[in-house]
Amino acid sequence: MVGSGTAIAASAVGLGAASLQSSKSAASTRVALKLQKARYKINTVFTENMVSLSPDRPPPVIWMDQYAPFAADVTNGLSEYTAMHWHGIRLPNKMDGVPYLTQLPLGQNDTYHYRFTPDDAGTYWYHPHCMTMEQMARGLTGVLIVREKDDPKFDADIPINLRDFRLKSDDQFTQLFTMKGAARGGTKGTVITANWRKEYQESAPAGGLVRLRLVASDPTRNYKIAMAKSDGKVIALDGHPLSKPWSLPTEAKPLILSPGQRADIALVMPREEGKEIVISTMLGQRARTLSRIRSKGSSLNRKLNDLRPLKPNPLSVPDLKKAELHEFVFGWSPDENGPNNGLCGSMEFTFWSINRKPWPGDAVKDTGPLLTMKQGRSYVLRLRNESPNHHPIHLHGMTFITLRSNKRKITPTWSDTVLLGRNETVEIAVVADNPGDWAFHCHVIEHQKTGLAGFVRVE
Ligand code: C2O
Ligand code: CU
Ligand code: CU
Repeated sequence: MVGSGTAIAASAVGLGAASLQSSKSAASTRVALKLQKARYKINTVFTENMVSLSPDRPPPVIWMDQYAPFAADVTNGLSEYTAMHWHGIRLPNKMDGVPYLTQLPLGQNDTYHYRFTPDDAGTYWYHPHCMTMEQMARGLTGVLIVREKDDPKFDADIPINLRDFRLKSDDQFTQLFTMKGAARGGTKGTVITANWRKEYQESAPAGGLVRLRLVASDPTRNYKIAMAKSDGKVIALDGHPLSKPWSLPTEAKPLILSPGQRADIALVMPREEGKEIVISTMLGQRARTLSRIRSKGSSLNRKLNDLRPLKPNPLSVPDLKKAELHEFVFGWSPDENGPNNGLCGSMEFTFWSINRKPWPGDAVKDTGPLLTMKQGRSYVLRLRNESPNHHPIHLHGMTFITLRSNKRKITPTWSDTVLLGRNETVEIAVVADNPGDWAFHCHVIEHQKTGLAGFVRVE
């Protein structure tokens, strides 16, 4: 699975592998994706009742080219409703895949034609935005990669989709979410996986430059990524290049990737054949291996300095002096309201609130925006968590800068998802440069579905 082409599943409905990948010169990409039931051997026996885009494997990595048209015809092969969302991509509002807000949910056998041209290169992901407590929990979260117009020239590119599954000891699904989890820190999975494996093994050319793309697509878990001492740097976060790369995370200083976040890591493989690079997540003090990358062949003798730095994406820089400040408070729900999620699924209760009001999640009919922003203006949004639980807050349609926190030192970065820890307040800045109604919610899916999901309007 090394190199840009091979990570794509051939069987994603109607189109073969060749048509799913666009070559470097043929810029535009077109895919047909069909949501369907799947089974897969995560462990030793098949786990049944999974959801994917082919009957027998994880959702494919979708590759597209920066500044080139992308087309996805998404068909719902399931009996429940759905819609597909492209997390982190700045696109026209109609293409954002949020039921009721930007489109109607897809019934069985309905097809939606998603069309957009990504301006930003980097690592993103896709997932449904309807019946997510079923469809995402059962597997439908995939990696989406926008190739840089200027190829940075890695020798291998390894996307790693990190997520849990809630399985019993017989490897079959158990209750996907619990009330207790939804009302507090979220329901964690029982099996941690990387590319749907308990431990994902890969190889890359010895002495070669590898681009590792870590995608936290789990509905709940905060990954605390650690690596044993190796030669490399973190070069991008949430799709966007870091202006100054970060050192590799260690067990003592892990890199936190909360639900929805991504990190790109540039690595030099060991020169000797058969040596491993190990990527782990910290569980308390213990490192749990997620993936091992083994060096293969004779050394390419590459150095980190051989890498051309990634070009910044064409984002609008907020004008902090002129920015309007708005505060949002995230917390428990003041009273117990029933669910109101239209055709897109919920739990029996509402546990969470934005500005002390529980929000109806995906069913936005008759619900106004949390904030209306004027197109082209800059805003600072103060996000205040008044609960002891973590909330990765995600904004659709625009990319913001994480400015500061009252709890920790922050290096400002471009992002679409920012983690609020216990009682933490974080300020983000954004230019309202994309007109439309944009979902704004916690990416702990149970929180999103029980009150912590609204939207902002740009007009
Ligand atoms: Cu990752 Cu509203 O989405
Ligand atoms: Cu999103
Ligand atoms: Cu939350």
